[in-house]
Amino acid sequence: MTSETELSRIGISLPKNLLEKFDEILRLRGYSSRSEGIRDSIRSYITHYQWISDVKGERQGVITMVYDHDQRGLLQTLTDIQHEYAHIIQASLHSHVSRDKCLEVILLRGDGTDLKTITERLMAQKGVESVKLTTIPIEG
Ligand code: NI
Repeated sequence: MTSETELSRIGISLPKNLLEKFDEILRLRGYSSRSEGIRDSIRSYITHYQWISDVKGERQGVITMVYDHDQRGLLQTLTDIQHEYAHIIQASLHSHVSRDKCLEVILLRGDGTDLKTITERLMAQKGVESVKLTTIPIEG
């Protein structure tokens, strides 16, 4: 097991505007270095993944998704994915946030594994800014 004090160097390429947004958050939050911000981001990414791995069994859930309306073909792809999972999607609500941004809220009920799969598939699409899954277990 490698401890957190042993450091590895990596080089990454990022879209300019993504890095600008990230740096802006680091400034606002008072980070001393970009490296520290990236370390924290990776830690919360891992925590989020571990948390999402615990979603199993019968669940009621909500997916909140923000995406770029202008991304070519995206609207169709997102609709296709949702139709594939029609058996677990109960309803969806679409709001046109601005000229180029859409917000969609999807209500689901089904196996936790399926809820995670659809979340990850939506997340993987180019032009999708954020996807958040919140679930509660169904009891009784
Ligand atoms: Ni829209």
